[in-house]
Amino acid sequence: MCGIVGYVGKEPCAEILIDGLRRLEYRGYDSAGTAIMENAKTRILRSEGKLSNLAKLIGESKPTGTVGIGHTRWATHGRPTEQNAHPHKYGRVSVVHNGIIENHATLRATLQGAGHKFASETDTEIVAHLVDDELNAGHDPVQAVLRALKRVEGAYAICVLCDGVADQIVAARRDAPLILGVGDGENYVASDIPAILSRTRDMIFLGERELAVVRRDGIKVMDLDGNPLDRKPTRIVWDAMMAEKGGHKHFMLKEIFEQPRAVTDTIRERVSPSTGDAFIDGFELDVKKLRSITIVACGTSYHAGVVGQFLIEALARIPVEVDLGSEFRYRDPLVGPEDLLITISQSGETADTLAALREAKKKGCRVLSVCNVVGSTISRESDGVLYTHAGPEIGVASTKAFTTQLAAMVVIAIYLGRRSGTLSEEAGKELVKDLLQIPNQMKEVLDHSATVNVISRRYSIARDFLFLGRGINYPIALEGALKLKEISYIHAEGYAAGEMKHGPIALIDEHMPVVVLAPRGSHYDKIINNLAEVRARAGKVIAIASRGDPEIGAIADDLIQIPDVRPELQPLLTVLPLQLLAYQVADLRGTDVDQPRNLAKSVTVE
Ligand code: AGP
Repeated sequence: MCGIVGYVGKEPCAEILIDGLRRLEYRGYDSAGTAIMENAKTRILRSEGKLSNLAKLIGESKPTGTVGIGHTRWATHGRPTEQNAHPHKYGRVSVVHNGIIENHATLRATLQGAGHKFASETDTEIVAHLVDDELNAGHDPVQAVLRALKRVEGAYAICVLCDGVADQIVAARRDAPLILGVGDGENYVASDIPAILSRTRDMIFLGERELAVVRRDGIKVMDLDGNPLDRKPTRIVWDAMMAEKGGHKHFMLKEIFEQPRAVTDTIRERVSPSTGDAFIDGFELDVKKLRSITIVACGTSYHAGVVGQFLIEALARIPVEVDLGSEFRYRDPLVGPEDLLITISQSGETADTLAALREAKKKGCRVLSVCNVVGSTISRESDGVLYTHAGPEIGVASTKAFTTQLAAMVVIAIYLGRRSGTLSEEAGKELVKDLLQIPNQMKEVLDHSATVNVISRRYSIARDFLFLGRGINYPIALEGALKLKEISYIHAEGYAAGEMKHGPIALIDEHMPVVVLAPRGSHYDKIINNLAEVRARAGKVIAIASRGDPEIGAIADDLIQIPDVRPELQPLLTVLPLQLLAYQVADLRGTDVDQPRNLAKSVTVE
């Protein structure tokens, strides 16, 4: 998630841009830059690393222009360097972009074939080339942007400045947010409310596939065919902190609701509905020669690894072992050049996981990492990286990073299954089609969060919880217990439901809420028996079940229903009510949800 700010007005804009970018700091960034119009030509200033580096550069350069755009980058394509920082300029066109251009490789090849030279590794730079071509064909900046965007596929929120047209920003969006701020003789563009809230409370939320021409004397909005649209400003009454959380009380809640977008961004361009295949960002494996796979991670990421084990063994029939980062390197692991190590890490800095990666590499293993931070240590030391596009995760309790890890494991399992010959093209197409539906179904579950609210109130005073699941939902039971314990401080345990009779059933009484993951599938009848065992001992059963299940409502004390999806994809849905339950119980208990006691967002010590 990058940050964008734009200003067209009467004041020198450098400080306005920097201040706006600073208010988007929570979105995370690894580089930043501005393009400021001076004497009808844009001047680009960019720097790697912290925003203070850009502020220093601007202080030294003292740009005086009153029209400009600024950007903080959270790298998805291309390393976090000054050269890859935005704005990108080509010819007369300067552009900043938030999103992912899916057909960037094809467009780059076409443009290079026409003699274009590229200065960066980013997908964004392509937009500057496309718009400049249209300017050279005689179109004005608005038409040039409209025509260029007809050739672009994927998600974008962009701002464009054109040399020679000194007092207008052309902004457009598709599958990425963009907001217009309405001032008095000055107007703004931003990727999120906090960036400009100190300057104006009157904002226009640019609609999907719309373009805006932002000038001092006003803002014109149109659709991407150039048809004018009437958009009225909304008065924003939030304070600054509320605005950074998107109006949510905590970052964790905001991030829970960001998950459909985060999963869409993670699977987009990595699965093909037409071929039923999947791609791992340029990392290739000779799967037929692969002896085994070991997945290593910690905490929530470890739970994603256990789901990955089920997926890879089911779809690719390759033996998979999952181990904790803190255990793996102490058992002289039996891995070598014919094995693959997969690490999973949101931060890419977890010491235990990094140590496991180094141990496996010492033994000749190739390493593929699933990671959320471009340029992190684990990503740099891996042979291949499948980046999750969750964006910065501020809440210590991992939510959107987890579901994007699950999505990444589906992508890897499809990739392996298609190459090992165990997943046919037809079966791959079916699975890809269902996977692409998941973000909408995640949204459906989240839209019913009020159902979870009622349950959270009923059990927020409990002292212990048990979470039960079978098969691919067993690790989700582990994850639900971890979520609850780490933010509400209630003791919670996740168990394979079949283990109940081997001990945990002794814990069951009327004070023990038991969350049972009981979606339709091959384990259903057995899990219903477990649920009956709990109720026979006066335990309280909170069931997560498939919508339309005719019997479970009569045998559970509380019921949360989710869309009926295939087992491989169920974890992406069954975890959502557990995240909401943990959040709501913790909030009711008044704990520090975003920064729970004793925890750190990234455990960089062993
Ligand atoms: C999960 O909610 C916790 N924040 C923690 O278990 C976390 O998943 C673990 O520390 C691993 O972190 P990583 O994904 O950054 O490696």
